[in-house]
Amino acid sequence: MDAASAAPTPFSTLIRTASHAAHTEAENSTFMSDLLGGRLGVAAYRRYTEQLWFVYRALESAAGALAEDPVAGPFIRPVLFRTAALERDLHHLGGPDWRAGLSPLPATTAYAARVEWCARAWPAGYVAHHYTRYLGDLSGGQIIRGTAEKAWGFARKGDGVRFYVFEAIGSPAAFKREYRALLDALAVDDLEKQRVIEECRRAFALNTAVFRELGEEFPLSA
Ligand code: HEM
Repeated sequence: MDAASAAPTPFSTLIRTASHAAHTEAENSTFMSDLLGGRLGVAAYRRYTEQLWFVYRALESAAGALAEDPVAGPFIRPVLFRTAALERDLHHLGGPDWRAGLSPLPATTAYAARVEWCARAWPAGYVAHHYTRYLGDLSGGQIIRGTAEKAWGFARKGDGVRFYVFEAIGSPAAFKREYRALLDALAVDDLEKQRVIEECRRAFALNTAVFRELGEEFPLSA
C-alpha cells in the first residue's frame, strides 16, 4: 500500500459522511418540508424560532467556560453566536412581550439538556453539537432564510430572519473550510472521534424529534 492510499480519511469527511442519512431525514421531516414548501403560517415559523432560542442559549451560555478548553476551545467563535439575532427575530415575531409566551417543547427541553450536559462534562461531545448546528446554519440555513423572506414577507436579511445572517462572516464558504480544518485537528484519539460521530448522530436525532413535535402542533389541514 503506498503512502497516499494509507492516508487516513479527514475527520471532517468522516463526520459529514456518517451524518448524511440523519441529515436527509431531518431535511425531509414533514415539518421542514411543509415549512420550506410555504404551506405553513408564520405562527409555525415563530414557534420553530422559539425552539431554536432554547437550543442556542444552551450552546452559547456554555461558550465562555469552554473558551480555554483544549478540545472545544478552538471552536468557540463569537462571530457565530446566534442568541442576540434570535432575540431580535423573536421581538419582531412576537412583539415586546415575546419572552412571556416562550415555552420549550419536550423535545427541545431534552435537546437543550443534552447540550448543557456535554458543555459541563464532555467538551468533545459539545463539539458534535456545535458542528451540527452552526455548520448547518451556514449551509442549508440560507435556503430556509430565502423561503421565510418570501413566504412571510420579511425584509431581505432583516428582522425575522437575522438568525440566518452571519453579519461578521464575510465568506461562509471560507469559514466552513477553516471550520473543517479545526475538525481535522480535533485534539482527541480515534476512539473518542467515534464517540463524537455518535454524538453528532444523536444531535441530528434531537433535531428531528423537535421537528416531529412541531409537526404535531402544526399539522396541515387535510
Ligand atoms: C430543510 C432543511 C435543510 C436544508 C435544505 C439543508 C441543506 C444543506 C446543504 C445544501 C448543505 C451542504 C452545504 C455544503 O456542502 O457546504 C448542508 C450541510 C449541513 N447541514 Fe443541512 N440542511 C437542512 C437541515 C439541516 C438540519 C436540521 C441540520 C441539523 C440540525 C443540518 C445540518 C447540516 C450540517 C452539519 C451541514 C454541514 C455538513 C458538512 O459539510 O460537514 N441541516 N445542509
